[in-house]
Amino acid sequence: MRIAVTGAAGGVGGSLMALLAGRDGVEALPVTRKEADLADGAAVRDVISRLKPDVVVHCAAMTAVDQCETDKDLARRINVEGTRAVADAVRGVKARLVYISTDYVFDGAKNGPYAPDDPPHPLNVYGLTKWEGEKIALDTSGGLVVRSSWLFSRRGKSFVRTVLELAARQSEIKMVNDQTGTPTWSKDLAAAILVCIEKKASGILHVTNTGECTWREYAKKILALRGISGVTVMPITSDELGRPARRPKNSRLDCSAYVALAGQPLRRWDEALKEMLETL
Ligand SMILES: NC(=O)c1ccc[n+]([C@@H]2O[C@H](COP(=O)([O-])OP(=O)(O)OC[C@H]3O[C@@H](n4cnc5c(N)ncnc54)[C@H](OP(=O)(O)O)[C@@H]3O)[C@@H](O)[C@H]2O)c1
Repeated sequence: MRIAVTGAAGGVGGSLMALLAGRDGVEALPVTRKEADLADGAAVRDVISRLKPDVVVHCAAMTAVDQCETDKDLARRINVEGTRAVADAVRGVKARLVYISTDYVFDGAKNGPYAPDDPPHPLNVYGLTKWEGEKIALDTSGGLVVRSSWLFSRRGKSFVRTVLELAARQSEIKMVNDQTGTPTWSKDLAAAILVCIEKKASGILHVTNTGECTWREYAKKILALRGISGVTVMPITSDELGRPARRPKNSRLDCSAYVALAGQPLRRWDEALKEMLETL
């Protein structure tokens, strides 16, 4: 099976490439910005047509949530029109499309975890453009949308690195305590994506590690697992932080459909975080 991965140098894409490398019967085909910028639809179509994959996992996206808010046109060009080019190419080579999406398609007002068929209602441009991308992906034959949340990874910028950097400089850090979600390791998500591909899942699935926390609780866990003491993590509200893009207060996703498919849930988020930090 030939599996092309867009955003192959990013958090999820990189984890997926590492997982697929050397796997029997799988040829992993990286598609990075260098091969095809999502802003250039013709280049995207050309690369995927040439690779002739059986499956395309579309991980690439403009993921900087606040930047999407301040540059709406670019966010639309990358997350919506870029996805349209990927979907066109997927149709052209009769491949299956797996689209990685986000809890930010929801507004967070639900009292409980979001099910895959709950109606999206994004609060920000990033969530809106990702939802539009979802609809494009679902309009391909056998298309699958995998929504995840609060991803952390060994690669690139992440909340984990930000917390460690702040704690190295300050004895008091401020973290939002009115948003609840589930941190998820890109490595565990990559393994789940492969399960979905092997089982030929289609439609929408929610996949996160297990458990939940606020950003403040998450930050405290990072410091505790690193053995860092003497840093106070003060609670603040989302309004006090004052970011350009609004975020949902409740980002919890109901993963039971994925658990039924895979036969088991992903491990707890703090266990995954512990292993990731040991190898960072
Ligand atoms: N991060 C989260 O918390 C989170 C949560 C839920 C869902 N998701 C979704 O999961 C997917 C993967 O996210 P991630 O955390 O792995 O993000 P990431 O580390 O930011 O990776 C995104 C990738 O997209 C690529 N990319 C961005 N703009 C591009 C363009 N114009 N042309 C080609 N490639 C471009 C980036 O390339 P460069 O390396 O060259 O910049 C990068 O490799 C995304 O679709 C995201 O929406 C993320």
